[in-house]
Amino acid sequence: MAKITISVIKADIGSIGGHIKPSEEVIKAIENYIKEAKARGKIIDYFISHTGDDIAILTTHREGLLSEGIHKLCWDAFCEGTKIAKEQGLYGAGQDLLKESFSGNVKGMGPAVAELEFEERPAEPFLFFAADKTDPGAFNLPLYLAFADPMYCSGLLLSPKLKKGFKFVIMDVSYTKADRVIELVAPEEIYEIAALLRDPERFIIESIFSRETGEQVVSASTTRLHNIAGKYVGKDDPVMLVRTQKNFPATGEILQPFALGPYVAGFMRGSHWGPLLPVKRNSTISFFDGPPVVSCQAFCVKEGKLTEAVDCFDHPFWDWVRNKVSQKAEEIRRQGFFGASMLPFSELEYGGIVKILKDLDKKFKIRKKK
Ligand code: 13P
Ligand code: 13P
Ligand code: MG
Ligand code: MG
Repeated sequence: MAKITISVIKADIGSIGGHIKPSEEVIKAIENYIKEAKARGKIIDYFISHTGDDIAILTTHREGLLSEGIHKLCWDAFCEGTKIAKEQGLYGAGQDLLKESFSGNVKGMGPAVAELEFEERPAEPFLFFAADKTDPGAFNLPLYLAFADPMYCSGLLLSPKLKKGFKFVIMDVSYTKADRVIELVAPEEIYEIAALLRDPERFIIESIFSRETGEQVVSASTTRLHNIAGKYVGKDDPVMLVRTQKNFPATGEILQPFALGPYVAGFMRGSHWGPLLPVKRNSTISFFDGPPVVSCQAFCVKEGKLTEAVDCFDHPFWDWVRNKVSQKAEEIRRQGFFGASMLPFSELEYGGIVKILKDLDKKFKIRKKK
């Protein structure tokens, strides 16, 4: 059987009432476009959802990674959606479509992309994560804990299939001329891995592989919009695909670290630290243009055909987590612009403060020593 590919391509093409949620009409336009491609046999199956103001198109097909046909299909669907967004006067219509015309694939054009190509196992469970009001580094800690730490992933101790550990491919996204990556293995190199993942604005997990079978388990998006556009055009709102069970961590082991609600970059104007709040499918955004949110849908796939999606964070346990994480959000917001609440200068997504500081710099005087 030919390999199957799961592609998820997401973009913010406009939203209602600020950066809150795309309109139903825009989502419908995209869905119709993709549905038609399925009827033509271009793709096997699809799933459309939104997380905050970002719409994700998940497709299954046999065209492989970075397929021009699949990427163009999603790009064109987002262009169709953008037309509606403009007609409706949505805020930030076409926000993530940074290039005038499509060339080759969507990498470097604005939309975030995560893809996995593999031979299906007899049972093929996988998870699709999407985040809003944050950036790709948000997945660093949950992935480290789920794939390298037996405190979180009990399978590393209990399952012989996980004992060899996993290979992490980590990208240095501050290097913009090409992809600059490093491969490190857990458990032998966990300190090296941690030393990089500590800095989630620069070093981002791109993929993870099983050392037992060589198979790819994780694919995460690594887009940094301000590296493409050269200025702030919105946060990078990442997506991720994770295969689970058997030779990989169990679904619950992948989910557990998200109960931490770690502080991540993003929130209001992409310029603050906020805790990553696990939310239900198609959630909106609210408090201080946040908090940063993550959604997770579970599927099984057979010959490319998807089951219905199961909403992983729609469970009483996660209601309790949401309360705790909301408290973390409110706590850090109490100190406003001060210190640890706002991102460091290098990450501030707005030029305004740069100008204030430049103007003030001229007014500083050096006191003569007496
Ligand atoms: P597998 O080893 O078959 O993936 O089962 C693990 C499991 O589901 C326990 O949660
Ligand atoms: P998005 O990147 O989700 O559009 O958010 C932009 C923003 O500035 C929110 O305050
Ligand atoms: Mg937006
Ligand atoms: Mg967004």
